[in-house]
Amino acid sequence: MSRVAEALIGEYFASGTLAQLPSRHFINGQWCSPASGRQLETFDPGTGRAFAAVAAGDAEDVELAVAAADKAMNETWRKVLPVERSRILQRAAEGIRTNAERLAIVECLDNGKTLDEARGDVRSAARLFEYYAGAADKLQGDSIPLGPDYVSFTHLEPVGVTAHIIPWNYPFSTAARGLAPALAAGCTAVLKPAEQTPLSALLLAEILHQAGLPAGVCNVLTGTGAEAGAPLVANPKVCHVTFTGSVGTGSLVMQAAARNITSVTLELGGKSPAVVLADCDLEAAVEDVLWGIFSNAGQICSAGSRLIIERSIHGEFVERLALRAAQLTLGHGLKNPHIGAITSLEQLNKISAYVDEAKKRGVNVVVGGARGVDPQSGEGWFFQPTVLDNLGPMDRLVQEEIFGPVLAVQVADSVEEALLLANATPFGLAAGIYTRDITKALRLARDIDAGQVYINEYFAGGVETPFGGNKLSGFGREKGLEGLGSYCRSKSVTARI
Ligand code: NAI
Ligand code: MG
Repeated sequence: MSRVAEALIGEYFASGTLAQLPSRHFINGQWCSPASGRQLETFDPGTGRAFAAVAAGDAEDVELAVAAADKAMNETWRKVLPVERSRILQRAAEGIRTNAERLAIVECLDNGKTLDEARGDVRSAARLFEYYAGAADKLQGDSIPLGPDYVSFTHLEPVGVTAHIIPWNYPFSTAARGLAPALAAGCTAVLKPAEQTPLSALLLAEILHQAGLPAGVCNVLTGTGAEAGAPLVANPKVCHVTFTGSVGTGSLVMQAAARNITSVTLELGGKSPAVVLADCDLEAAVEDVLWGIFSNAGQICSAGSRLIIERSIHGEFVERLALRAAQLTLGHGLKNPHIGAITSLEQLNKISAYVDEAKKRGVNVVVGGARGVDPQSGEGWFFQPTVLDNLGPMDRLVQEEIFGPVLAVQVADSVEEALLLANATPFGLAAGIYTRDITKALRLARDIDAGQVYINEYFAGGVETPFGGNKLSGFGREKGLEGLGSYCRSKSVTARI
């Protein structure tokens, strides 16, 4: 471990907090106190105790942030050369890498994930800025052939001020996933992180500013969904809203945006299947399905939260999976166990309620099924990795997103039945397929209704791969070159000559 990390971790366990954490909004290039003067505590899920406080923003602060973004759009950012935008984003990627250990530790404390998971998130955030830095000066239009008497071409213009509403499961990398393409396309931004995990987005705003981003181009304001999120998405100066979170809130965001004819990208929930066929590499598939659901304590929109398995290998597969799940350690994220904490007490209660209800009606809990604690301190918000076997297709454990380390197992008698089960939920975010038969795999990939399909490796892909959902999982795509689409609009110019 680096000396920086060692010192910070020592400081945290000795004092219960870290020095120099951000506590105010970042608006128009500076730290800015909330109009109301109120603050919100943020908790370390690994202990269950508050360790910092941030501004409780409201409509007045939103107005200020949007005005700064609007002014920056018209007066500065529009005039900056594409190559210069590219250089700023490249420097931001370097800034993230330089500060990686502190960022990862702050993320780990605010969210509860393991330090290694937080390090991975910080790496992918840096990679997002690097990737979109490379795109900033390549956003070209077309020339349209209308014959000798006309010249016709398209420009790709930035849409303007963009709003970003971020959830608590991947605070830093989700912020980067929206900001990097928006800034690359020449848009300005106002970002509101989740109230449970506000710190890393504030640190990101500071890094972008240090990388040379002009004042007002990226503003971050903290606060609750009702007090800060709602006025932001309803602001008529906002030209596009990128939202990641629950289906219910996504629908509210879309309704608020509709009043202003503002476009939205909605990245919502999932109940994604891992479809395991009898001819798979069993050992590799067990390990992959395990991490498909238990990574980030299962708090992943695209988690493989359903296992759909062919009957002939069902018994052996579930037995091996349960053995591995029982070996996984829980603990405070900074101690780098296998599985970190659940980000909020509210979310822990939600997970527990699902599992308690399942137990009451006699569902077979193969492993786990209860809350946990950090083994050294006896504190914190944890849930054991849990496998629930043999569920019917309409069971609520199959139909509803739990958003925790809970795997629902469904047994299929054929590949055809596996496909029917895979598609039989209201969601369509991701799917995993495990088989040695590439034809079967590609046919399933064709027929499964999901925004992304992984074959023989769950979460395969990178920042280059477009990501988004179908059905209740939302619409629009982030990451990859497609991720720029929401932030650009085309203008055609046609001249008679
Ligand atoms: P949420 O969808 O309410 O919160 C996500 C973000 O939206 C937060 O920044 C929140 O402050 C903001 N927000 C809330 N109400 C708003 C409004 N009216 N206008 C604008 N912004 C608003 O999610 P919540 O309540 O934290 O979690 C509930 C469930 O949502 C979880 O149990 C899980 O099933 C799902 N979820 C899905 C995520 C995903 O990645 N797709 C991420 C987080 C939660
Ligand atoms: Mg927190």
